[in-house]
Amino acid sequence: MTGPAPDLAGKRVLIVLTGGIACYKVPEVIRRLKERGAFVRALMTEAATRFVTPLTVGAVSSDRVYTELWSRDEEAEVGHIRLARDGDLVLVAPATAHTLAKMAHGLADDLASTVLLATRAPILAAPAMNPAMWQHPATQANLRTLRDRGVTIIGPASGAMAEPETGPGRMVEPADLVTAVTDRLVPRPGPLTGRTAIVTSGPTHEPIDPVRFIANRSSGKQGHAIAEALARAGASVTLVTGPVILPDPPGVACLHVETAEQMCAAVEAALPADIAVCAAAVADWRVANAGTSKIKKVSGDLPILELTENPDILAGLGRHPTARPTLLVGFAAETDRVIEHAQAKRLKKRCDWILANDVSPETGTFGGEHNRVHLITADGVESWPQISKSAVASRLVAAIQAVFTA
Ligand SMILES: Cc1cc2nc3c(=O)[nH]c(=O)nc-3n(C[C@H](O)[C@H](O)[C@H](O)COP(=O)(O)O)c2cc1C
Repeated sequence: MTGPAPDLAGKRVLIVLTGGIACYKVPEVIRRLKERGAFVRALMTEAATRFVTPLTVGAVSSDRVYTELWSRDEEAEVGHIRLARDGDLVLVAPATAHTLAKMAHGLADDLASTVLLATRAPILAAPAMNPAMWQHPATQANLRTLRDRGVTIIGPASGAMAEPETGPGRMVEPADLVTAVTDRLVPRPGPLTGRTAIVTSGPTHEPIDPVRFIANRSSGKQGHAIAEALARAGASVTLVTGPVILPDPPGVACLHVETAEQMCAAVEAALPADIAVCAAAVADWRVANAGTSKIKKVSGDLPILELTENPDILAGLGRHPTARPTLLVGFAAETDRVIEHAQAKRLKKRCDWILANDVSPETGTFGGEHNRVHLITADGVESWPQISKSAVASRLVAAIQAVFTA
């Protein structure tokens, strides 16, 4: 029987295990990475050694496992700075809430955190924790900090946990971790290799005051699926996303923004691009007189919100003076006369294609798993059946590939 191709031959992966139940899955990750030819070195926090022994991890990695910052042996043999410089990539799996917090704050009080602070290699982290810990604002703020600094967060997945609880917090499966590592170390060529793409996704939040905002029901599922599908096809993808509760798609550079103005600036900064897909539900208006402190409720005195127009990102790209993407795709979320409105939008915004969808409440499109879209081009209208959002993404990317490989 032959194993997977040794596409990681010569690559060095440093795995940092931290103290969660999901440690039991990591020997499987190490085994699979080694099967692909990687040299894997593991280091463990003290808490991680409570869940799986260094002996087990070392037996699978065929190497010494590092656990101590203050060990004369370990320091003399490799030293924490050399360990930090040793890998082409660092994978933190599982990544506890505690270690993510330490990373976000630059703490370095044990071997794992010191190495994570000293490394210059790209860091991938696979969080695993109870859903309440995952959803805690402190964890979410730490994740934002880490993402902004270029750490790639993989997962977590949703589903049943070790405790009798379900929700987001399960570490992604070993096979998915190995794919994420492989994609990062040896990007696979695809039909869109060499092409650059910008995708916008999710809603925008427009502040009314520091605590209130105007939002919409977009979940970001469609935009994120498109970004992931473009990356799978080999494109170099920048995803500019508004506030969503989805993990960053693998292999995609993610920029997190809140407002339409921030999204517009992030898109502009990401130009030039061959492809732009504007799937975000960008607020048309923002509050012109947003309060800088919380607007107080005064009985009988209703605040008047004055609205002003937001920048139109799609139209801005359509008539960009220097960097109009070669293929510009917009979305039109309509509740009535869907095709007619979308055709008008395509011309008005000067984009090449529009994916039009019916978002009237009974369709369940916003936030749902499925979408029913019509692809509107200069040649006419192609109506797709109701399919999953990832199937819409694959079909769109197949159409994009056809343009660039024609
Ligand atoms: C049985 C048990 C399971 C735990 N599972 C997790 C977990 O899945 N994720 C997590 O973030 N913390 C979990 N913890 C808490 C961490 O082990 C604890 O925060 C520890 O300080 C983490 O240290 P480290 O990040 O240095 O490894 C668990 C604790 C226990 C006792």
